[in-house]
Amino acid sequence: MHNDKINSVKKELENVFDGVNTLEKLEQIKVEYMGKNGKITTLNSLIREIPNEEKKEFGMQVNELKDLFNTKYTQIKEEIEEAEINEKLNKEAIDVTLPGTEIPRGSANMIERVIETLEELLMSMGYDVVEGPEVEKDLYNFELLNLPKGHPARDAQDTFYIKGEEYLLRSQTSPVQVRTMLEAKGEKPIRIICPGKTYRRDEDDATHSHEFTQMEGLLIDKNITLGDLKGTFEEIAKKLFGEGRETRFRPSYYPFTEPSVEMDISCFNCNGKGCNICKGTGWITVGGAGMVNPIVLKNCGYDSEKWNGFAFGFGIERLAMLKYGVNDIRVFYLNHDIRSLKELNRREY
Ligand code: DAH
Repeated sequence: MHNDKINSVKKELENVFDGVNTLEKLEQIKVEYMGKNGKITTLNSLIREIPNEEKKEFGMQVNELKDLFNTKYTQIKEEIEEAEINEKLNKEAIDVTLPGTEIPRGSANMIERVIETLEELLMSMGYDVVEGPEVEKDLYNFELLNLPKGHPARDAQDTFYIKGEEYLLRSQTSPVQVRTMLEAKGEKPIRIICPGKTYRRDEDDATHSHEFTQMEGLLIDKNITLGDLKGTFEEIAKKLFGEGRETRFRPSYYPFTEPSVEMDISCFNCNGKGCNICKGTGWITVGGAGMVNPIVLKNCGYDSEKWNGFAFGFGIERLAMLKYGVNDIRVFYLNHDIRSLKELNRREY
């Protein structure tokens, strides 16, 4: 009878582990057979009912059962653990053929690109890049540039004054001309370009911003002519808008130059035939310039009998708008959809 019990448990052990594939299930089986009330453990308690001469034999059989259980248990446990490790390895395997994560690449801002393009060209022509302060003296921004107080041309540059009338946010980059000439003490030739921020009390709209960027140019030497200015402008026009561009000067007025001109390029869009970009004229105005007014030379310590030169000024946003097809200056200053910027930046430099 006792043997029957042993045999039936032994029989169970033959397939009790079949299909067990988790450690959890395995532990349940262990409890079922080897736990405190487990099927094998409880066999031990039967020993009391067994005649003495069979006790030893019975004990040995129970021990064999235990060994059998433990052997199977250990084997299955190892199998499950190995399977788990393999699964984990498979899951965590790195597929080296997968495409990498794309890291978005930034690109130079359009204003910066135009400035860099101009700097590159003009530096190759011997110009130095000079910067000046954005908080400027009225003296340098206006007075010494032949724009005395009350001069009507001041009205075109509605200015932010800072406490009184002496200091202001520069309304143009032209004061850097003054600073450079004063520093040179009328003794040496000058070739500079001055990019930088400028400010005017304009209402912001599609073509005006109270904060904008200019680039000033100044060349002082001996026997300089308007032809030199024209040649320089031509190089600039071609560098920015392509070899096919033609240039022209139109008479204009600036207090700091005499004569003064507006600088036009033939329309890059219609090649001069007339379109909406050039408003049907075939020409686009891109800046102002002229021969430095002898009054300004004198104001800044240069003898106008010996020295002369030219100056020019560009609105960088205007150039960038033309070059990159931007039709609202606020694009440069307001938050906007980064995708549109990307689109613009993809265009040719
Ligand atoms: N400063 C002028 C402006 O803001 C631009 C300019 C015109 C600068 C002629 C010059 C120049 O140096 O010669 O409208």
